[in-house]
Amino acid sequence: MRLLVCGGAGFIGSTFVRQRLREHGDEVVVLDKLTYAGREENLQDLAGEQGFRFMRGAIEDPAAVAEAIAAAGPAQAIVNFAAETHVDRSIADPDAFVATHALGTYVLLEAARAGGLRYVQVSTDEVYGSIEQGTFTEDSPLAPSSPYSATKAGADLLVLSYHHTYELAATICRGSNNYGPYQYPEKLIPLMVLNALHGDSLPVYGDGMQVRNWIHATDFARAIGHVLEHGAVGEVYNAGGPDEEANIEVVRRIIELTGAAQSQIEHVKDRPGHDRRYSLSSEKVRALGWEPRVRFADGLAETVAWYAENGWWWEPIRSGEYREYYAQQYGRALQD
Ligand code: NAD
Ligand code: DAU
Repeated sequence: MRLLVCGGAGFIGSTFVRQRLREHGDEVVVLDKLTYAGREENLQDLAGEQGFRFMRGAIEDPAAVAEAIAAAGPAQAIVNFAAETHVDRSIADPDAFVATHALGTYVLLEAARAGGLRYVQVSTDEVYGSIEQGTFTEDSPLAPSSPYSATKAGADLLVLSYHHTYELAATICRGSNNYGPYQYPEKLIPLMVLNALHGDSLPVYGDGMQVRNWIHATDFARAIGHVLEHGAVGEVYNAGGPDEEANIEVVRRIIELTGAAQSQIEHVKDRPGHDRRYSLSSEKVRALGWEPRVRFADGLAETVAWYAENGWWWEPIRSGEYREYYAQQYGRALQD
């Protein structure tokens, strides 16, 4: 298939691109704005590989999107990962979240409609809000809590409206919390791993009893590819990981894997509007033949080892904009 992958220089997008090129023989053009989270380093092992091309541009720019679709041969499908993805940043400054999720998704949908392209929107379990007990299905009502999840939910509704109104061949795939190599260290797992390795404190929000449903990025990327190939248009598919765990337990596992000290744990002020628990039922996508392959204990150990061995990837981040973000968010500087 000839694909336009938007946001393909990010954590999950680059994992998806690697799979599609190497395991499925697809041709891929990546369109990515290269925000602080988008990095060509995430794709550097693919440079020069047949069928791969990178283009820098924003999804809210119709000319850049048209150029990228044409460069893809033209593209037969758009898979949209492009997003602002950090909840804490959406609380501090929601502006870019509205622009990328609302306007950007609209521009892509218009381009897909004009070209008669297949469209897959990558979305999140956070659109359902928090669930104390039980698990969300695709029919659960949308009840997003943060500017991040509210703008993602808005984008999902726009996608479904394009299917309903214009018969666009669009499908949505909603994932639970991803982890794995190449994840920007503002997110819980890479943040805790790098802080543990550097002797920094491990900032746990509130009581640390918030529960997340962990899925390895390779499993979520495979689910998105599966939905692209086998999903029905106009449908939503949830892809949740096989394991749930409270944040404090995740941090304890990381301490064990890195040899850090328990005393590095520091309970800090809670996130405003913090969702207590996420849990996704994946029965619908499992019925299409997908299932997660990586259990959390194995995937976490492999992820910790990757960060420990790949300083070339995170050293430029820890010495750049991230230091300022961290100082502002946590009220303290990172160790050198
Ligand atoms: P990420 O922050 O690592 O990457 C996002 C990518 O989008 C970056 O490369 C960035 O440069 C690019 N981008 C941002 N705004 C853009 C714009 N306006 N135009 C073009 N490119 C733009 O994010 P991620 O964790 O890889 O998430 C990818 C997608 O998966 C997102 O849509 C996110 O909502 C969804 N998702 C993430 C998780 C998770 O746990 N990380 C879970 C479920 C769903
Ligand atoms: O559920 C899917 C979502 O998972 C994605 O849609 C988002 O893009 C992704 O960022 C993620 O959102 P979370 O808010 O769950 O992820 P984050 O890594 O920011 O936080 C995970 C949990 O850890 C959450 O309960 C907050 C907590 N936390 C996070 C950080 C950064 C801490 O306790 N301390 C921290 O320093």
